[in-house]
Amino acid sequence: MPTAQILRGIPSEFLAKSADILAAGFPLKMRHELRARTPRQAALLVEQSIAPDLGWVALDPGGDVLGVLGVDTDGLSFFNWRYPMLARELGLLSAIPARFFTALGAITTRPGRGLWRIEVIAVDEQARGGGVGTRLLRTAIEAARDTGMRAVTLEVVDTNEPARALYERLGFRCVRTQRSGWLTAQSGYQAIRYMRLDL
Ligand SMILES: CC(C)(COP(=O)(O)OP(=O)(O)OC[C@H]1O[C@@H](n2cnc3c(N)ncnc32)[C@H](O)[C@@H]1OP(=O)(O)O)[C@@H](O)C(=O)NCCC(=O)NCCS
Repeated sequence: MPTAQILRGIPSEFLAKSADILAAGFPLKMRHELRARTPRQAALLVEQSIAPDLGWVALDPGGDVLGVLGVDTDGLSFFNWRYPMLARELGLLSAIPARFFTALGAITTRPGRGLWRIEVIAVDEQARGGGVGTRLLRTAIEAARDTGMRAVTLEVVDTNEPARALYERLGFRCVRTQRSGWLTAQSGYQAIRYMRLDL
């Protein structure tokens, strides 16, 4: 596979495709936590919530988006799930649990000073296994180091063993596991592993 080009910041022309890839990467979370009724609706919600400056995209030589990564820093979030936007797309009632889940996620994972948190990474299904995810992660880790961060953190759910293996290969270590139980069972997981890479 030809080498992907990695850009820091998601240019506006790549936002829609980036949102498609992110929504497709987490179909159960999109349905059960974000309450999106269709993949299209999920992608629309994701697109409107992205802070492009906190993202990286991998492009193939033809300029197609292959993968996306987004980080949270102290005080800034890659995803910004505002209730009015959720209500406009989902309706007033569905927007309430959607806002609950997104707020819960934001509160329990907010990075402290000197830390970057990888909020999300997804690679287009056709391009997986070709090294794109590794390059996105390495680029973001380098950027965190250059910015003077102490560590990079992320979470991975208990049922995503391949992603955990990838993170461990890059040096991330599990620092704690939190059971989420029935609250997230419909989304396909019941525990969250918190991982950290000291820089
Ligand atoms: C996890 C993910 C970003 C990895 O991206 P990628 O470009 O496939 O990763 P790479 O090619 O750099 O590394 C592949 C390695 O990742 C792992 N991997 C994880 N999911 C994989 C998948 N669906 N297909 C192939 N490899 C996968 C394998 O262990 C593989 O190891 P190998 O190199 O020994 O074969 C990608 O699979 C994805 O988008 N998954 C869906 C969304 C997701 O789960 N994101 C992570 C949430 S914590």
